[in-house]
Amino acid sequence: MDLHLQGKVALVVASSQGLGKAIAKALVLEGAHVMLNGRHQDKLLEVQQELEALQGGKVSYCTADITKAEDVHRLVQETRNVYGKVDILINNAGGPPSGSFEQLTDEDWQNAFELNLLSTIRMIREVLPDLKEAGGKIINIASSSVKQPIPGLILSNTFRLGMVGLAKTLAEELAPHKILINTVAPGRIATDRLAYLNQVKADKLGMTREEIEAESLESIPLGRFGEPDEFAKVVAFLVSDANSYMTGSTFLVDGGLIKSI
Ligand SMILES: NC(=O)c1ccc[n+]([C@@H]2O[C@H](COP(=O)([O-])OP(=O)(O)OC[C@H]3O[C@@H](n4cnc5c(N)ncnc54)[C@H](OP(=O)(O)O)[C@@H]3O)[C@@H](O)[C@H]2O)c1
Repeated sequence: MDLHLQGKVALVVASSQGLGKAIAKALVLEGAHVMLNGRHQDKLLEVQQELEALQGGKVSYCTADITKAEDVHRLVQETRNVYGKVDILINNAGGPPSGSFEQLTDEDWQNAFELNLLSTIRMIREVLPDLKEAGGKIINIASSSVKQPIPGLILSNTFRLGMVGLAKTLAEELAPHKILINTVAPGRIATDRLAYLNQVKADKLGMTREEIEAESLESIPLGRFGEPDEFAKVVAFLVSDANSYMTGSTFLVDGGLIKSI
């Protein structure tokens, strides 16, 4: 199937590693021009060089902290300066810290709101003029917590649902402009974030990370963690011309982890 992504411009937020980087790679391989983002120039430069070597679409990067309104504005402006437009927006971000309700402060809640919900709102607002011109695609990366809350991750459990509500509402508001918006929810995909969360849980329970991982694998019907590249393929399909009729939906990529229908 030809995804028809050649020449499309994709802004992939938070793409210096993990899921964001895998999505950027999948889009470059399909011929899209990609703007990478993260807070650290050294990491971005390395990813840019790695993806450019694939000889697909063009690759640029912009260092920006997406919790800051002025950085979000500059990131979108820079994408326009480099490529002249934006066709595809991938809203990704770092994950919020773990912690139970009684451990978390107002500052923790405010930070998670700014990182995981307000950044998404601001990014969409900034790219809308471009997407409204010729239609476009928006993907929000959330978590399986939107289907089943994850113990000890109340910040994720709360704000990711806000992302889903936002996308579902915008699907209707933006449909007249031929803008399709969907949520993709990872279960347990092997990235630094997953390793960090497994380590936090191991420390809390006085176990090793290997023991926590073995326990975790037992709950996944496919019996393994997902690979970032197989997660990214789903996103590449959803932002391509091959997806012409799915909007406002939430797609789990979880190896069967979530049991609800
Ligand atoms: N992996 C999973 O199984 C899984 C499961 C459920 C949900 N998720 C969620 O999916 C998202 C991506 O996951 P991941 O595993 O790829 O995480 P990750 O490995 O921790 O990568 C996070 C990315 O976000 C960037 N970032 C963090 N804060 C930023 C900021 N303020 N401004 C700009 N960029 C920022 C990081 O780059 P810099 O540090 O250089 O800025 C990095 O590129 C996270 O929100 C995570 O919680 C992942």
